[in-house]
Amino acid sequence: MIIDQKLLESIDFIIEQTIDGSPIGHDELNNYLGFIDIKEIDKLIQYLEIPLLRADSGYRFDGGVGQPLNTADIKSHLVSTSSVDIAVKRLVTSTNELLLAQVENSIEDYSIVVAESQAYGRGRQQKQWFSPYGGNVYFSLGFKTERVDHVYLLPLLVAVTLRDILVRHGVDGLQLKWPNDVLINGKKLAGILVESKVCGENQFVVIGIGINIVRSKQILASVDQPVAFLDDFQATKMIDRNLLVAMLIENLIKVLENPVDDMSLISAWSEADAFKGRSVEVMLSGQWKQGLAVGVADKGQYVIEMETGKVEINSSYVSLRLAE
Ligand code: BTN
Repeated sequence: MIIDQKLLESIDFIIEQTIDGSPIGHDELNNYLGFIDIKEIDKLIQYLEIPLLRADSGYRFDGGVGQPLNTADIKSHLVSTSSVDIAVKRLVTSTNELLLAQVENSIEDYSIVVAESQAYGRGRQQKQWFSPYGGNVYFSLGFKTERVDHVYLLPLLVAVTLRDILVRHGVDGLQLKWPNDVLINGKKLAGILVESKVCGENQFVVIGIGINIVRSKQILASVDQPVAFLDDFQATKMIDRNLLVAMLIENLIKVLENPVDDMSLISAWSEADAFKGRSVEVMLSGQWKQGLAVGVADKGQYVIEMETGKVEINSSYVSLRLAE
């Protein structure tokens, strides 16, 4: 569906006005927003599973049981002394897109954007990261760095860090799929998209992380591989997303400021490799080709033993999957 800025702003406004439990009528909406296309609004509400219900001639918010994301709550869990700018949004196009557009204007060392939903969440390989409202984590951290070439290991570093955080959050059975998917029992629980742009001497890097928490039929339908939801693995206690976001901020900054040496990183990633030693298929020149996964090598590339010899893949545009 085509989602324009006006539509996003209209829905954001409706949530803002109703989140405290008070309903809003269409007349009031028209007064604030001018002409709005109710059909389009209803379509987007349904598409992004936004908990807005039709009430009388307007809407009311039906927020469910989860704790909303909240800046003060996130900050209360932080001990880091680095300067961090945290923006919590309800509805955005993409947290990565937002940060990339504004990161050079930031005066803080790190800028964070987290959102309750994304209309155009970006995945790797130009895929969409379907981002329904509330309950999941859509997180981006942006920072400025001198132009460097070693950002190629960053996706692996982020994957190892994210896995460690989830382990400390009490989640077992986590593995990694090259370059940076976090899997649980072979199913994708979280995805990472590192994007960057160069401005003069500086490079702006944005680390985007999406974690599936709440089971959603639409997420299952939108992803071309098995998907997992954190809720299914934490039967007894609710996931505290504000704490999880604070852990992401704290730990990512820690590893960015105190980088481990490349070999230790490769070895940590390797220990969690879900595919190592297994039969895999890799998409090469438009065809799935079979091989044996050897594992990750020193520059972060993935090595596969094929009939024709060893092949190294080093672009996250290459698809990799287990052979049937
Ligand atoms: C993948 O395809 O596995 C990467 C998915 C990355 C999704 C996250 S959600 C927060 C951030 N903003 C985006 O638009 N994408 C990333």
